[in-house]
Amino acid sequence: MTDQRQPEHAIHPIFTTRWSARSFTGETMPESDLLAMLEAARWAHSAANRQPWRFSYALRGDRNFDQYVGFLDDGNREWGHKAAAIVIVLSARRTKPTDGSPPRPIGSHSLDTGCALQSLTLQAAMMDYIAHPMGGVLPDKIRAELGVIDEDYKVECGIAIGKLAPAEQLPERFRERERKSQRRPLSDTAFRGEFKG
Ligand SMILES: Cc1cc2nc3c(=O)[nH]c(=O)nc-3n(C[C@H](O)[C@H](O)[C@H](O)COP(=O)(O)O)c2cc1C
Repeated sequence: MTDQRQPEHAIHPIFTTRWSARSFTGETMPESDLLAMLEAARWAHSAANRQPWRFSYALRGDRNFDQYVGFLDDGNREWGHKAAAIVIVLSARRTKPTDGSPPRPIGSHSLDTGCALQSLTLQAAMMDYIAHPMGGVLPDKIRAELGVIDEDYKVECGIAIGKLAPAEQLPERFRERERKSQRRPLSDTAFRGEFKG
């Protein structure tokens, strides 16, 4: 299998350059780099511009970095502990009106937040970082320790961010998977006129 990515149509190279590696160097990163990634996320599009995404993060070296590593499930913690930053991604399930009216559900909170996640990971790739999303987090622990109210916010995922290290530095069971994945053909995904899903 090749780990070369060959797009079927001409696209900006960042889309195939970005990938979810697991091997991090264990270095720290400047907060300004992470803030640039979060800034990219900030400018994502969302339904009615409600911007329901929220991020809570710790940088390697922070007092609570180990706490954030502890928010990952066992499999992700095995490699994620070498990241330079761990970001927890949440989405607001409902509005917070300031005029006394009752909160209204935000139907697209997860979809909107996925847009922001993509902006963050692409900005990271442009800055020569790996930003690896992880659904494998511990929502109960995150809610309990960060004081997140489930009715208000959904814990969406975590992101491990850092600089790429050689695959050989990974625990053995992850090494084989440390390659750029391929995609289904576009014709299996996008249909002109008739839906063939
Ligand atoms: C919402 C979401 C959850 C994911 N959860 C995990 C996870 O828990 N652990 C993991 O190693 N990778 C996880 N990934 C990474 C995917 O496996 C990866 O994006 C996919 O295999 C495509 O590979 P690429 O990102 O290298 O292109 C997740 C990705 C997304 C978008």
